[in-house]
Amino acid sequence: MPSTTFRLSVNGAMHEVDAAPDTALLYVLRNDLALNGPKYGCGLGECGTCTVLMDGVAARACVIPIEGCVGRDIVTLEGLGSREHPDPVQDAFIREQAAQCGYCLNGMIMTTKALLNNNPRPSEHELRAALQFNLCRCGAHVEILRAAMRAAGHRVEARD
Ligand code: FES
Repeated sequence: MPSTTFRLSVNGAMHEVDAAPDTALLYVLRNDLALNGPKYGCGLGECGTCTVLMDGVAARACVIPIEGCVGRDIVTLEGLGSREHPDPVQDAFIREQAAQCGYCLNGMIMTTKALLNNNPRPSEHELRAALQFNLCRCGAHVEILRAAMRAAGHRVEARD
């Protein structure tokens, strides 16, 4: 498919990219815009590691064609916060050290953020439900849930 120029809103700034209309958003973010927060995992929309926010909702960038992103507000992990001023969700994951290899973290954080956008005080059940289709192959789920609970304002008991 021949390339077309697309104007995309990513992390609050407009970007022009040349790509075939069916190019996955994930490739444009990583290869054209050097935004490497979203990761390539399955490429099938099943693992969640490529998750971004699209109009505030969690979306899997590996299966969204770039032509479907025009006029949408896209936010990546880089757009949430900075090293000096992390988003509260990022801060919660840092405080809980909720990672082993860290590859799934982008998806865990962005999915938690999307939930909190619509439901600022979700229950543990709601957090579990929101994150159930984000895969972590290391088995860091306990720490990830603790971080999500902390981000949602729940009291998290100190670890032994
Ligand atoms: Fe997109 Fe797995 S890489 S869902």
